[in-house]
Amino acid sequence: MMNEPIIELENVSFSYNHESAIRDISLKFEKGSYDGIVGPNGGGKTTLLKIILGLLKPTAGRVRLFGQNIERFRDWSRIGYLPQKVMQTDVRFPVTVREVVSQGRFARAGLFRRLSASDMEAVDRSLEISGASHLKNRLISELSGGERQRVFIARALASEPEVLVLDEPATGIDVASQDKFYRFLKRLNQEFGITIIFVSHDIDILMHEASRLICINHRLVCAGSASLIFKENQNLLESLYGEHAKHIAAEHAGG
Ligand SMILES: Nc1ncnc2c1ncn2[C@@H]1O[C@H](COP(=O)(O)OP(=O)(O)O)[C@@H](O)[C@H]1O
Ligand SMILES: [Mg+2]
Repeated sequence: MMNEPIIELENVSFSYNHESAIRDISLKFEKGSYDGIVGPNGGGKTTLLKIILGLLKPTAGRVRLFGQNIERFRDWSRIGYLPQKVMQTDVRFPVTVREVVSQGRFARAGLFRRLSASDMEAVDRSLEISGASHLKNRLISELSGGERQRVFIARALASEPEVLVLDEPATGIDVASQDKFYRFLKRLNQEFGITIIFVSHDIDILMHEASRLICINHRLVCAGSASLIFKENQNLLESLYGEHAKHIAAEHAGG
């Protein structure tokens, strides 16, 4: 069902050692949506994702996942996560693509269970969806940025999640691979019905790809369709992005 909130934040705040990172954010994410979270570096985007993923506990406010209080939520395989900087991580130990993608299965199988034949089928399936089947016996250290990205996406998909959370996934990837990647995400969303939550500081990209933009600068600055935001929040965008906002708005009005 569309319009069903699968992630709900209510007055959520978080501080790192008394340093406030996000303040009083209330926000809902609906099943099947493609939401882009934008905002300046240091604005709290990654912090917000980590709260949704249960990696950080809010200092105030409530979080519900799939209708359940996050404290009680256990179905973590329903949420796939592509962390920031996973691409830049130096992978020196000799681990194969197949092994990396199999890690994504443990969210479902449990860390100490052996993977079954059906787990391995899911691994193969997610490699195939991600266009990385031909890489499966290669060492992760030998791959290009774009190839590695597909492998980490395959790992996030291996648990067959309903939501895919991506934190600046295109950083360090060449432009041609990026284009392919955005088409791929759109397909995951439209064909497979996977809810996408995509964080980037690059508003140009998300404006074209996401159906809703959420602007975060410690607080929730604005949320809505790109055209609505450009109509109503020109000043806010300028305060977030300075002169760059004018250039984007002009381009947006033209297209
Ligand atoms: N582990 C941490 N310890 C202390 N401060 C942090 C930590 N992670 C992030 N911060 C601070 O919290 C704020 C928000 O950071 P972050 O959520 O990473 O923003 P963004 O992802 O939008 O760049 C920044 O001021 C950052 O320096
Ligand atoms: Mg970040």
